[in-house]
Amino acid sequence: MLVLGVESSCDESSVAVVEDGRRVLSNEIASQIDLHRPYDGVVPEIASRMHTEWIVGVAEQALKSAGLGLEDIDAVAVTNRPGLVGSLLVGLNFAKGLALARGLPFVGVDHILAHLYAPHLERRIEYPYLGLLVSGGHTVISRVDDFDQITVLGTTIDDACGEAFDKVAKHYQLGYPGGVVIDRLSQQGYERAFDFPDPSLHKGHHPFDVSYSGLKTAVINQLEQFWDGKSEKSPENIAASFQRAAIGMLVKRVKKALLHTGLKRIVAGGGVAANSRLRRELTDIEGVEAVFPALELCTDNAAMIAGLGYHYLRQGSVSDLSLNAYPRIKRFKRNYP
Ligand code: KG4
Ligand code: ZN
Repeated sequence: MLVLGVESSCDESSVAVVEDGRRVLSNEIASQIDLHRPYDGVVPEIASRMHTEWIVGVAEQALKSAGLGLEDIDAVAVTNRPGLVGSLLVGLNFAKGLALARGLPFVGVDHILAHLYAPHLERRIEYPYLGLLVSGGHTVISRVDDFDQITVLGTTIDDACGEAFDKVAKHYQLGYPGGVVIDRLSQQGYERAFDFPDPSLHKGHHPFDVSYSGLKTAVINQLEQFWDGKSEKSPENIAASFQRAAIGMLVKRVKKALLHTGLKRIVAGGGVAANSRLRRELTDIEGVEAVFPALELCTDNAAMIAGLGYHYLRQGSVSDLSLNAYPRIKRFKRNYP
């Protein structure tokens, strides 16, 4: 079955063709990063406008790269949650129009589940595993039992992990996207120049939850108000110390979740999964296999949407034209120890 996937939940317009949920025939991604850089963050109005301008061209390119025509496509899968609603609607309506015009079945796919499915596009992975989704919009630690079955163990109680990287970078005018710049600067910095506390440890939060707004505030307060002048306040040192705290907080929760669930495999996804420190720390956990998909499958892409969509379609789950777009994460089961 050849599924055409459509993704437009944030600032990437992407269309892909995937065969039988695994073989990626094309995965075209048009990134708007340069257009949002002057604002140090994604501007929703610009994002949806660019999706409107680009989506048809990206789809044509995806078919061309796969060496296929529209007549070869068997079904359409599209992200319908969570994300920026104005952006989601562009992809969703494009997918609906295509399905209607060609008489094809189409299915709405959850972006979070799709990220956690992404490594299946590269290799065989057995369920269950611990899913770690860390991006500019999401921070979710979950137990993944099947393509459509996750149990959320922990999330952020405020900002997403990548958002914290972006906000700290913006505050110190380090560049955009913040995660990429901070990761790079950290290589030259002294990671113990500043010691930022784990802000969620003392507030009675759930043991698997993180607070990145708390960390961001700690970084800014500590450096602006309480800096004792002993350590050099260079961008490299700020970056390295922040990164140690941000990734450390995450890895601490992941280790707890591994102990709690007894799982022996971690699958990471989202833009922050590119972080060199996160990769090193997860890979170093003894007795546990850490799986990182290729970068283009970690960040937003339509191949993961087409791949996951195939499994719904195969079991006969299709959406109808009344399908809507939703900004928020679906209410997955939560499991507290
Ligand atoms: O998955 P993604 O491309 O888009 C969504 O947010 O859905 O993730 C983008 C996020 C940004 O916040 C960016 O700063 C962060 O991922 N990021 C990183 C790194 N590369 C990208 N964060 C930390 N270290 C990196 N190397
Ligand atoms: Zn994403």
